[in-house]
Amino acid sequence: MTYVHAQEAAAALRKATGLDVFDVALVMGSGWVPAADAIGETLVELPVTDLPGFNPPAVAGHAGRIRVVRTPSGRHALIFLGRTHLYEGLGVEPVVHGVRTAIAAGVRTVVLTNAAGGLRPETQAVGEPVLISDHINLTGANPLTGATFIDLTEVYSKRLRALAREVDSSLAEGVYVAFRGPTYETPAEIRMLRTLGGDMVGMSTVLEAIAAREGGAEVLGISLVTNPGAGLVGDPLNHEEVLEVGRATATRMGALLAKVVDKL
Ligand code: 6GU
Repeated sequence: MTYVHAQEAAAALRKATGLDVFDVALVMGSGWVPAADAIGETLVELPVTDLPGFNPPAVAGHAGRIRVVRTPSGRHALIFLGRTHLYEGLGVEPVVHGVRTAIAAGVRTVVLTNAAGGLRPETQAVGEPVLISDHINLTGANPLTGATFIDLTEVYSKRLRALAREVDSSLAEGVYVAFRGPTYETPAEIRMLRTLGGDMVGMSTVLEAIAAREGGAEVLGISLVTNPGAGLVGDPLNHEEVLEVGRATATRMGALLAKVVDKL
């Protein structure tokens, strides 16, 4: 699943949707799928597996569908309802295939959302969206190979973060740390990540962000803090809780995304 596959998937997408201009792509992480309904009117929705190079979803809450919507201001948004994760064991290329397909289809702005553990429960509430200001990639993987020395000084666009704060001035920013998963972290790892300067921890987003930057797109990243990291508060973690926080906050997250997309 290389760039050639992304070109093929983009061609299939144009054919399946009858559209050839897409203004923005959004990747909806765990818990974010219910928020997608607020972004606009659905024009077409298809299973990701209708396009070449996509895998069926492996996890509950990862819907595995692609939706094209028209926003109130007439923009066309490509929404990935679910994503492929590195922990599925399929390698890096399937993880970034959606972003590369969107870019091959002409998208210049990519919004990456995820559910994350909070590393700063002193200041972060469960159910709070946090703008990703930077990342620490501890997945051990990279979507690029060879002498592709891409600058990552500003992976997550300052301009888009400022635009999101125009929509919601209460939005905090933080550094997102990614592990491969699928286990959640140990309490010792969570303490390590706090020392390293992380604010949120999860299992996605960083590889897609790198692929988006390589493709020349501008990236906005938003984490939904669904629980504190292991050992910080005491409760064991579970995936159902992550999805429940998404359902409970869908209205706020949907309004946020809808307003951001309309301001692009
Ligand atoms: Cl605590 N860790 C990771 N890796 N992913 C998460 C999480 C924690 N909470 C939600 N997603």
